[in-house]
Amino acid sequence: MVPNPQQTAETIHAKAPMFNPHVALVLGTGIGGLADAVENPVVINYEDLPGFPQATVKGHAGRLVLGHLAGVPVACMQGRAHLYEGHPASDLAHPIRALRLVGCDTLVLTNAAGSLNADFLPGSLMMLTDHINMTGLNPIAGTNNEHFGPRFPDMTEAYDQDLRRQLAVAASTLGITLQEGIYIAVLGPNFETPAEIRAFRILGADAVGMSTVPECLAARHCGMRVAAISSITNLAAGMTHEKLSHDQSLTVGAEAAKDLNNLLLEFLSGFSRETVS
Ligand code: HPA
Repeated sequence: MVPNPQQTAETIHAKAPMFNPHVALVLGTGIGGLADAVENPVVINYEDLPGFPQATVKGHAGRLVLGHLAGVPVACMQGRAHLYEGHPASDLAHPIRALRLVGCDTLVLTNAAGSLNADFLPGSLMMLTDHINMTGLNPIAGTNNEHFGPRFPDMTEAYDQDLRRQLAVAASTLGITLQEGIYIAVLGPNFETPAEIRAFRILGADAVGMSTVPECLAARHCGMRVAAISSITNLAAGMTHEKLSHDQSLTVGAEAAKDLNNLLLEFLSGFSRETVS
């Protein structure tokens, strides 16, 4: 029997008793280092969390790190599972629901992405204003569990306006340029063809990647506020003469990670001030 998120939440509570995280963070390709800054961490490997899909890709540690970041109680997913690894889409909802059950009402998603916008160069950061789901899959398809949310959740504000404003303030405080744009999610695992990229640009996308949207859908379904940031690791297929590779995503992602980590810490410190006031 597939464990339900309640069982996973109980396992998390047993390993970190009396700890109630407010913010869940999903740290994507090359971005997992932020979890090392968590104070008084309790670290749980995904394999010890019933129902958590395993992260099999290089650059994804596969650990849940609980503790404080900039004064905020957080749960950091250091690495994630992707649809292209063969997980059923519904499995990607499981960690998000478990984190909702342990108290997280806010989800911050990060990812590595290719740019379709010639102004968003590798090394830059893009905050998602909206997304297009091109994966053909949805983690909340199937029998609806009313306990988590309605059958037909509204997605007019997938990425929360207040969180976006707070991220923009944090970026401007640090002097970091934070681009804003639309993310198109594909199933992968192949990189796109140049023709696909031209088509996606006509659809209005600024960045393309293989993650984030499933988690956003699961989180919005269960009433969490969501923010997401892409670390742009490459210009998308056909925009340069270069061939694309995962190693390039890891290398460029690691460079942009410094800015992204600082941005998230500044954002969280503002968050703790707002929570206290
Ligand atoms: N396409 C899809 N996913 C990606 C890319 C890309 O160009 N770069 C990093 N993740």
